[in-house]
Amino acid sequence: MKNLMLAVALSVALIGCSSKEGPSTRSTPEAPAAADVGAGKVLAEQCKGCHGLDGRGAAPAIPDLAAQNERYLLASIAAYQEGKRTHAALRDMAEHLSAADIRNVVGYYASLPPLAAIAGQEVAIFRPYENGKALAAACTRCHGEDGNTTTPGIPSLAGQQLRYFVVAIQEYLNGVRRTDPMHSLLRPLSKLDAESLALYFASQTPAQRVAPSVGDPAAGEPLTAVCGGCHGPHGVSTDTATPNLAGQDAKYLVDAIKAYSRTRRHESMLIFVRDLAPGDIEDIAAFYAIQRSRAAESGQTFVQDLVAKCDRCHGANVDNAAMAVPKISGQDKDYLIMALRAYRDDRRASSMMHNMSLPYSDSIIESVSSIYAGQPAR
Ligand code: HEC
Ligand code: HEC
Ligand code: HEC
Ligand code: HEC
Repeated sequence: MKNLMLAVALSVALIGCSSKEGPSTRSTPEAPAAADVGAGKVLAEQCKGCHGLDGRGAAPAIPDLAAQNERYLLASIAAYQEGKRTHAALRDMAEHLSAADIRNVVGYYASLPPLAAIAGQEVAIFRPYENGKALAAACTRCHGEDGNTTTPGIPSLAGQQLRYFVVAIQEYLNGVRRTDPMHSLLRPLSKLDAESLALYFASQTPAQRVAPSVGDPAAGEPLTAVCGGCHGPHGVSTDTATPNLAGQDAKYLVDAIKAYSRTRRHESMLIFVRDLAPGDIEDIAAFYAIQRSRAAESGQTFVQDLVAKCDRCHGANVDNAAMAVPKISGQDKDYLIMALRAYRDDRRASSMMHNMSLPYSDSIIESVSSIYAGQPAR
């Protein structure tokens, strides 16, 4: 097999001056010349160890190629050649095939029928909101039903910002925040579970609080002018990494502000609260406690809404689109996860700004990938 691949690669290198043509001509996925599917099938012998002769990825994270959009397959191989996608084996292979060979082998895979799902290997759909809701049962005795607490000193979690929540959990886990009971309680929490909890709580509606017995909201308000730039004018933040303060338990706010001078390490927060007098802190806390807050996310429909957006390009009309859009229905789940993380983390260039449309957590990527992987291939 190895020898055969080598022989083919060599013969291609010998005859194939055409394989040295500039990458720019290859990158245009416009109407490819008709492929010789029979010749393509012979070439697919070089690919079958990973992509099968039927176009099914041989192992997790290897993409299925069967029935894939032909223009997209051409564009993706050009992306390996041009270094826009990095995968040593693919790049090497793409460089050793002539333009005609690539057209033929791609034509072969595109001509194959869509793959049927393998019986007994149904994809389990991952639902972060429901997962978070189930996990939250362990939190409600302290944080209240739906994340609204009534116990002084314990923070409400309802409506809290997504990324802030996840960072807070990480800080309890890695010991930056050493406050018990949270610190010892959260030990065995995976990243997907932490993100699921964050989505669940972020989606709950914060309750309106009555004025606390300590502190004067009217005296606190002017002191918050400097805080509003980050936390929002009334403590409802627009940045998912900056916590909402509106509607939070007043005693907890006092403790948290003081914690920045003692245990929590955040220079950007510390400089704003370091010089506040204890009475000022109580007034500020009283002001924020009675502000009306709102849910930061809509977790119940988050994934559905997202999939509706993706379907505008990746949906049923994918073959007719003006641009070369890949089919992702029925694609291998691990491959989809890998591709989406690569876009998000800027490891794979995207013509469609997937990195911008995907500021999403691993749990959202897991969920969307499971949904598409679980759909019938077309
Ligand atoms: C050693 C295993 C291996 C072999 C052999 C191999 N591939 Fe791949 N192929 C992969 C993997 C893994 C990926 C995903 C790489 C990535 O992360 O971009 C991939 C991706 C692709 C893609 C992009 C698909 C997409 O959905 O974006 C195309 C097209 C492709 N391969 C075509 C071929 C062809 C044609 C051959 C034979 C000439 C071949 N590959 C041989 C493993 C292999
Ligand atoms: C035994 C009571 C208790 C339980 C159970 C509990 N917590 Fe907490 N939680 C606390 C207390 C007290 C604090 C404040 C700790 C501090 O000052 O850092 C807190 C703080 C937090 C914070 C930080 C909030 C903020 O605004 O910074 C998060 C996030 C959190 N808890 C999540 C959870 C989750 C998720 C669960 C369930 C898996 C949970 N907690 C279970 C008592 C509890
Ligand atoms: C430059 C932006 C910025 C300014 C200005 C700022 N904060 Fe913050 N604040 C943050 C960020 C970011 C965090 C989250 C830090 C972390 O992860 O612990 C935070 C966290 C907090 C927390 C902890 C909330 C919780 O749920 O545990 C409190 C309370 C707080 N800020 C109060 C204030 C007050 C009061 C002011 C004004 C006197 C202020 N902040 C000004 C950015 C800011
Ligand atoms: C405006 C059209 C458009 C939208 C909207 C869109 N995509 Fe894409 N997608 C593309 C195109 C074009 C490509 C291939 C070229 C590229 O990498 O940019 C692609 C590539 C992909 C790939 C790689 C597939 C492969 O075989 O390697 C995945 C996975 C993907 N998109 C998932 C998504 C998800 C999930 C969403 C919704 C959050 C989404 N896309 C939204 C057009 C779109």
